Amino acid sequence: MKTELLAALRNSDGYVSGQELCETLGVSRTAVWKVMQKLKAEGYEIEAVSNKGYRLISSPDVLSAEELESIRKTSWAGQKIVYYDVTDSTNVQAKRIAEEGGMHGTLVVADRQESGKGRRGRGWDSPKNTGIFMTMLLRPTVKPDEASMLTLVAAMAVAKGIRLYTGLPAGVKWPNDIVINGKKVCGILTEMNTEIEYINYVVIGIGINVLNQSFPDEIKDVATSLLLEKGEPVKRAGLIEAIWEQFEIYYDKFCSKGNLSEIKEEYNSLLVNLDRQVRVLDPREPYEGTARGITDGGELIVEAEDGIRLVSSGEVS
Ligand code: BTN
Repeated sequence: MKTELLAALRNSDGYVSGQELCETLGVSRTAVWKVMQKLKAEGYEIEAVSNKGYRLISSPDVLSAEELESIRKTSWAGQKIVYYDVTDSTNVQAKRIAEEGGMHGTLVVADRQESGKGRRGRGWDSPKNTGIFMTMLLRPTVKPDEASMLTLVAAMAVAKGIRLYTGLPAGVKWPNDIVINGKKVCGILTEMNTEIEYINYVVIGIGINVLNQSFPDEIKDVATSLLLEKGEPVKRAGLIEAIWEQFEIYYDKFCSKGNLSEIKEEYNSLLVNLDRQVRVLDPREPYEGTARGITDGGELIVEAEDGIRLVSSGEVS
């Protein structure tokens, strides 16, 4: 009922009368009043004026299934939300849910992870009340060899979502790190379970530094948070919503072609390495060149001394 009540307050331009809330939710006035008290205790600022009703003035930075569900505007991404105050890793939970038959569009969110996973076997520091740690479960209809492009689709959605929601100049560092003013603010870990001709599921795990006030010495020169960049707190639930709204748009375009042709130009416009000197950390032999954007298949086009090279995996610095 909290979700429906919050949604009713959010969807109204002004006041919502107690009577209207009772009718919409099918509950008594006392029940409405009790939920209002609970919301106020959680930090929601709600004005109550006699003869007019209730009005939502501001929401706290709460992460809960109710908060996320009440602000959701997406059509399928996050239709089901699984929220944990603490879990091992949202990717691990999303994979478990997938194995148990969970549906396409299930979103797993946690306030804290005890074993957050990064790329290349690294960890992902996930303290409480600071970040967004979330994983989307997808059952895409594209071919298995096309699925790796989904991580670029997610990177675009995060960069665009941050731009729209915070106004910060977020960009993508190929293939899928999100950076602001040269420092990493978000990492993405995509994992998949496929057969030769069929994708069982894909999980896209996204970790965003939102409210971190500082970083350990080892990473303070390369990592940042939205709070540090903006100079004020950013509400996590609103940003989550903004990101998945963008994701739906890009995902549909990607799936309609099975490649990035329809969104490649926009990806390139977000690419911080575009027309810049890059060093490709090829395990056989690292080399340097100028990044010229991505192909329809998501490879990075690098103009090297000996000609054009396409980078499909590995790290670029
Ligand atoms: C990277 O190394 O850049 C990728 C980091 C991905 C971290 C996120 S946090 C949510 C999801 N759950 C995890 O355990 N990892 C991803």
